[in-house]
Amino acid sequence: MALFVDFNFSSSTTVLAAAVLLLVLYLLSVSYISKERGKEPPGPRPLPLLGNLLQIDLKRPYKTLHELSKTYGSVFTVYLGTNKVVVLAGYEAVREALVNYAVEFGERNVSPIFKDLNRGHGILFANGESWKELRRFALTTLKDFGMGKRLTQGKILEECGYLIQVIEDHKGNAFDTALPINYATANIISSIVYGSRFDYGDPVFKNMVKRANRTICVSGSASVQLYNMFPRLFGWIKNRQVVLKNVEMNVRDIKNLINHLKETLEPGLCRGLVDCFLIRKQKEEDSRVLDTHYNEENLTFTVSNLFAAGTDTTAATLRWGLLLMAKYPHIQGKELDKTCKSHLKRMWVIRNTTLLIWVSPRTV
Ligand code: HEM
Repeated sequence: MALFVDFNFSSSTTVLAAAVLLLVLYLLSVSYISKERGKEPPGPRPLPLLGNLLQIDLKRPYKTLHELSKTYGSVFTVYLGTNKVVVLAGYEAVREALVNYAVEFGERNVSPIFKDLNRGHGILFANGESWKELRRFALTTLKDFGMGKRLTQGKILEECGYLIQVIEDHKGNAFDTALPINYATANIISSIVYGSRFDYGDPVFKNMVKRANRTICVSGSASVQLYNMFPRLFGWIKNRQVVLKNVEMNVRDIKNLINHLKETLEPGLCRGLVDCFLIRKQKEEDSRVLDTHYNEENLTFTVSNLFAAGTDTTAATLRWGLLLMAKYPHIQGKELDKTCKSHLKRMWVIRNTTLLIWVSPRTV
């Protein structure tokens, strides 16, 4: 009986405490939101704590946001939980903010999952002086290695050869192009970053590509968005654990690859971006620069950023291209003719390789 009374007492105390806590949170969020709402761009009325979450399709938030822009215009506010988000909808608004007010809008909001991913290092999810320096370094070095110029043509053509082999192995049967194209793209980035490509069968390489795809995929999941809104409450979710595990394994693999490059590093000879970084790091150490951004962590996460950001985007673009070409064969013919004519000079270079057949058996 005494136990029963005790139990009743403690459970009613817990319920009461919870109710008081909820009431305090409710009042706090109502007063916070209503204080904010006077000064901010218009938007749908948020609920306490939940904000506008119940109005947003978490799987396709861009669809709801696009709908909302029809009511509230090209600059409006939504609350994701208690996080206030100002949405820029449409080319003009984005251009005005990011081009005309580049400095004011220069900082990137690093959400909790991206903090987990990069720990403030690297380029993609970083801010401040470190980001500026690394971005400058990456842009200059990638340009030096011929990114976007004819210099990379050799690397791309070499990779095309391996990709064609994979395609030919299917002997004309249908197959999923996702992985081979991911491998080919990741290899072009790798040859610029590390100075050499990987064999498609290399387990380290295969796992790096697999993890990059999976991390990008789960980072956009509904549960991770919930974690981004309430990091203290949802830190345990499975998709976040997947990201943390992937980061740990990526760091391990990248550090191993960098260590291998360090052992064979020759001062004055940059085989890839990693070598250039290591040489620069050494220079800064020799000159006793104290607040240098050229450190191990920034190198590891810059490499990881370039690999992930460069692979998925470019491979997806190529796959869309393939899909559209397959769906509209008459455009395929036209595009090939156009490309061949406008790049006649470049075609000459291609003609002199064994990859001739891949370009266009009709036109060449
Ligand atoms: C079709 C290909 C690509 C698309 C559609 C694409 C798209 C984007 C977008 C939308 C951003 C965000 C820009 C911003 O927030 O200001 C971005 C940033 C970035 N991309 Fe790409 N990208 C592509 C290829 C690449 C490649 C090949 C690389 C590297 C080799 C790369 C590396 C990066 C990096 C490092 C950033 C962060 C830049 C910064 O924070 O300053 N991307 N990309």
